[in-house]
Amino acid sequence: MIASSKTGLKSNLSKRFPQGFLWGSASSAHQVEGNNVGSDWWSWEEGGCLESSGVACDHYHRFEEDFDLAKSLNQNAHRLSIEWARIEPEEGRWDGEEIKHYRQVLDSLRSRGIKSFVSLWHFTLPLWFAQKGGFEKASNLKYFERFVRLCAREFGEKVNFWITVNEPLGYAWSAYGVGFWPPQKKHLASAFRVYFNLVRAHRKAYRAIKGVIPRAEAGPALNMAAIHYHGKNPLMVLGVRSFERFFNRSFLFLSRGFFDFIGVNYYFHHDLSLNSFSLEVNKKLAEQMMLMEKKGHGSFFYPRGLYEVLIKLKKYRKPVYITENGIADAKDKIREKFIVGHLSWAHKALGEGIDLRGYLHWSLTDNFEWAFGFKPRFGLVEIDYKTLKRRVRPSAQVYAQVCKTNTVVSDVQKPA
Ligand code: FCB
Repeated sequence: MIASSKTGLKSNLSKRFPQGFLWGSASSAHQVEGNNVGSDWWSWEEGGCLESSGVACDHYHRFEEDFDLAKSLNQNAHRLSIEWARIEPEEGRWDGEEIKHYRQVLDSLRSRGIKSFVSLWHFTLPLWFAQKGGFEKASNLKYFERFVRLCAREFGEKVNFWITVNEPLGYAWSAYGVGFWPPQKKHLASAFRVYFNLVRAHRKAYRAIKGVIPRAEAGPALNMAAIHYHGKNPLMVLGVRSFERFFNRSFLFLSRGFFDFIGVNYYFHHDLSLNSFSLEVNKKLAEQMMLMEKKGHGSFFYPRGLYEVLIKLKKYRKPVYITENGIADAKDKIREKFIVGHLSWAHKALGEGIDLRGYLHWSLTDNFEWAFGFKPRFGLVEIDYKTLKRRVRPSAQVYAQVCKTNTVVSDVQKPA
């Protein structure tokens, strides 16, 4: 029996997860490593987004310390990304030192008994690739494929799970649809082109990995959201249903046969009866994200939504990993409730036949939250950006108990 530190209630409503379940946290290179100077984001930041990533969390030099923390918090899995801009800083030139670096990073996880989820693309691009038109051009996909093949050869025996692409739809929309990420296009047709090219990039990456390591496990990490419409307009009902399908599962539909597992990044709840469906929706969400620390967490706190997205994945008959789920909460007021709530609903999906095998909380440490800079604090571990000291937040200890016992204890009989 475990006491919930928030309510002080003792409860025996424990929900056990299957043996071998993976518990950990997720991150991405640009957001934590620091000095990603060869990337398109770096040069964009210099040109004037809110804040530049600078040394970020200096994870590049402190990965041992960070993995010690993960280990001390009983985590047995960790998601990170390999930065393409470091490995191939100029077209066709592989950087041996950087390859060596990532081999050390992966060895460091292995020596602690932590399984690795390795993302091959998490939003950032080598500047030279971006200058050639990035993922907007189908003729550029060969460069990504070549990079993936190199990674499979160099890191193959050290990686447990490969994540080909991260949140392709979120990227296409943010960088090409509403244009608040580089290259800041606002062009719907470009956004669609990028999205479909990322589907193709994923398929090529999947084939390339399997070509080198036939037994590898590879899949995408997809942003999925709970999408509702409570109104009565039949056209809207139909429109929202189609939108939900497109948003959450079009990538899987288009890449059927090309994934061994499904990675789910779950953050959002969109109620389209409240938000008019327009190009502005994302902007509103972005604004909410900036305000959420002040005004409560609105769209970001809807644990039941995780169940809703998971349950619809049954037909694919594939293992599912939650590859991201978390909340910006600098004061750590709500993170414990957030974790317990989401895991309770995830457990319900398990009970109803979803082959859920792991949960990776976003994120191990605070980090650079893209165009929002360092303000949103997603870490189980707080970073003091002046000293780069790490401090474990109380909610991280609650999660550590979950990781240790393979059990979530919630005060509620049924997740509400
Ligand atoms: C996801 C991104 C991740 C992080 C979280 C908060 O959409 O994949 O890099 O920024 O949001």
